[in-house]
Amino acid sequence: MRLAIVGATGAVGTVMREQLRKRAFPADEVVLFASERSAGKVVDGLTIQPLRDDTVTGFDIALFSAGGSTSKAWAEKFAAGGATVVDNSSAWRMDPDVPLIVSEVNPDAIEDARKGIIANPNCTTMVAMLPLKALHDRYGLTDMVATSFQAAGGAGQKGIDELAAQIAPLAADVDLLVNDGATAAAKVEHSVHNATLAFNVVPLLGDLDDQGYTDEEMKLQNESRKILSIPQLRVSPTCVRVPVMVGHAIAVRATFTKLPDLDEAHEALVAFPGLVLDDVPTPLEWAGRDETVVGRVRRDLSDPHTLNLFVVGDNLLKGAALNTVQIAELVVDRGLVGSAAPAA
Ligand code: A2P
Repeated sequence: MRLAIVGATGAVGTVMREQLRKRAFPADEVVLFASERSAGKVVDGLTIQPLRDDTVTGFDIALFSAGGSTSKAWAEKFAAGGATVVDNSSAWRMDPDVPLIVSEVNPDAIEDARKGIIANPNCTTMVAMLPLKALHDRYGLTDMVATSFQAAGGAGQKGIDELAAQIAPLAADVDLLVNDGATAAAKVEHSVHNATLAFNVVPLLGDLDDQGYTDEEMKLQNESRKILSIPQLRVSPTCVRVPVMVGHAIAVRATFTKLPDLDEAHEALVAFPGLVLDDVPTPLEWAGRDETVVGRVRRDLSDPHTLNLFVVGDNLLKGAALNTVQIAELVVDRGLVGSAAPAA
C-alpha cells in the first residue's frame, strides 16, 4: 500500500506521521508532500516532494492537511490517480458526495465516498460530536447552544508560534497586564489571531458573514447536522480563541425531544467509545491524549429537556490527525482502498 501525506510538515501532518507509526498503519511506502518551500527537505528520513501532476498518481490512500485551497486543487487529482483521499480541510466537507466522518459516530457513511474523497470534520465540531451522539441516540437532539474555547494550535503551527512568542514579553510586566491591558496587548505582534492572545480571550476567529457569524461558527452548525443526520438541528454557535496551546473545549447546552435522565445520560456517555468522563476536564491536562473527555454534565436550570455539559478534546489528535488515521483504518478494514475513486 502506497500512502501519501500532503501537508506532512504542518502541525497536524506531524501528528499524522506519529499516529501512523504508533497505530502501525499497514503502509508499505509513505511519501510526504508539502509546499514548494519544503520540497527537498528530509523528514523522518524521507525527502519532501512537491505537488506536481507527475508525483500524485499511483497512491492507495492520501491523507491531506495542507489547507482548503491545496485540497481543492489536489484531492481530486490524487483520487483520479487511484487514491482514496482523507481530507482534513474544510474544502469538501459539505459536498453531498463526500462523507463527513467521526469514526465512532457515523462510520457507515464512509460507504458513500462517491468522489473517492472522505472528509475529516472541523476540530471543534469533532469533539462535540461524541457526547452529542451518545445522548442523541437516547433522547433525540433538537437544539444546541455551543460556545467554544479554542486553542492556538487550531490555527496550525503558526498559531502556536504566535502565542508562544507573546508569553514572555507580557509575563515580564504583570503590573501592566493588571493596570493597562491595552498597552500590554500592543507590546507584541499578532497576525494569525485576531488580537493579542496571551493573557487574553479573543471572541472572533475565522471570517465573518453578513449575519455576523464566522465560518468557524457556521461549521459547528452545518457539520453537526451532517454528521448526526439531523438536518433541522438548531445550533447557536460562538467560537472563542483562548491562550491554550493545544486542546479545544466547548460548553454545550443540548436540548432533547425526550426527557433526559441524568444517571442514564452519564451511563450513555461512559459507554460511548473514545469518550471518558472527568469532573473537571481541562484542555491542558488532556493535551496529548486520544480520548475526548466530558464533564460538568447537569440538568439545565430552566428546561428539563436540556442538559449542560463541558467537552474537551485534543484538536491535533481526535480533532484532526487521529480521526484522519482512524478513517484511513476504516477504509482499509472495509476494503475501500482506492475502490471509490473515479476512473482516471
Ligand atoms: P510547508 O511546511 O512547506 O509550508 P500548518 O497547518 O501547521 O500551518 O501546516 C500546513 C501544511 O500544509 C504544511 O505542511 C505546509 O507545508 C503545507 N502547505 C501549505 N501550503 C501548501 C501548498 N500550497 N502546497 C502543498 N502544501 C502546502
